[in-house]
Amino acid sequence: MAYNLKGRSFLTLKDFTAKEIRFLLDLSIKLKADKYAGIRSKNLEGKNIALIFEKPSTRTRAAFVVAAVDEGAHPEYLGKNDIQLGKKETVKDTARVLGRMFDGIEFRGFKHETVETLAKYAGVPVWNGLTDKYHPTQVLADFMTILEERGYLKGIKFAYVGDGRNNMANSLMIGASKMGMDFRIVSPEKLFPEKSLVKESEEFAKESGGKITITSDINKGVKGADVIYTDVWASMGEEDKIAERISLLKPYKVTEKLIEMTENDKVIFLHCLPSFHNNETELSKKYPEICEVEESVFEGKHSRVFDEAENRVHTIKAVMVATLGK
Ligand code: CP
Ligand code: NVA
Repeated sequence: MAYNLKGRSFLTLKDFTAKEIRFLLDLSIKLKADKYAGIRSKNLEGKNIALIFEKPSTRTRAAFVVAAVDEGAHPEYLGKNDIQLGKKETVKDTARVLGRMFDGIEFRGFKHETVETLAKYAGVPVWNGLTDKYHPTQVLADFMTILEERGYLKGIKFAYVGDGRNNMANSLMIGASKMGMDFRIVSPEKLFPEKSLVKESEEFAKESGGKITITSDINKGVKGADVIYTDVWASMGEEDKIAERISLLKPYKVTEKLIEMTENDKVIFLHCLPSFHNNETELSKKYPEICEVEESVFEGKHSRVFDEAENRVHTIKAVMVATLGK
């Protein structure tokens, strides 16, 4: 089924029905196949796209640029030190100015309210490239990777292990409950997600036949899982919390033992990346104990993290084509 999403912004998966999400995933799979076949449809020919980044990015920035160029659009990177946003000019004014010049706007930053204000005043589609609260384009890439592996989403047993209240946990809970998955957040109680968001997601799950479990019990949380997912223990902007997170989350590291606890040999391991899985980056040398996943799992047979990273480009392309394409 095709759905008309023209002119819509993409701020959180809450705003999309299960059928619309499935449409975006099917479109992503088609656009990936087209790219592999050398077909370029130029669905965004002549469009100008603003990419606002308050926080750093490798995958999201690269995916928006490549997806835009593949479809014939012009992407313009606007870093936090390049524009007036929030410093000399309100978000509302910036939204109205950029909306007069660009056909679509991506925003990555801190407050979720910023992306909401941009969407409210820009008059063109605005896409959330990550805020402190949500990271919805990442979830599309995650679900696309599951579809490629398993061919379906409904009933998938999905265990998110780690910081249960960050942007990934929030967005995965919304997406999984919409798509009818058996979704578990496995984290220490101190890092459980906001109750109101759990409640909202439970409503989605009721409609889809999905299930939500929030538990600190690792054994219970990962048993039978088809997918084990984790993310960094301290997100961008939470650098002052690193020591506390290490002590809270050490028992929740994704190890080979945890993978075995799923009792599912076909389980796949996903991570949005970037990831601490060895001691080879600047930050992990500074904090050798931050390591949310064991190297042997990250590099092992269950890991699909680089398929997932590639899928960022196909899914982001689908979002732009569906909301802005000709
Ligand atoms: N997964 C993700 O959003 O990566 P970047 O921070 O590199 O964009
Ligand atoms: N939770 C992480 C996700 C990075 C893609 C962060 O916000 O830093």
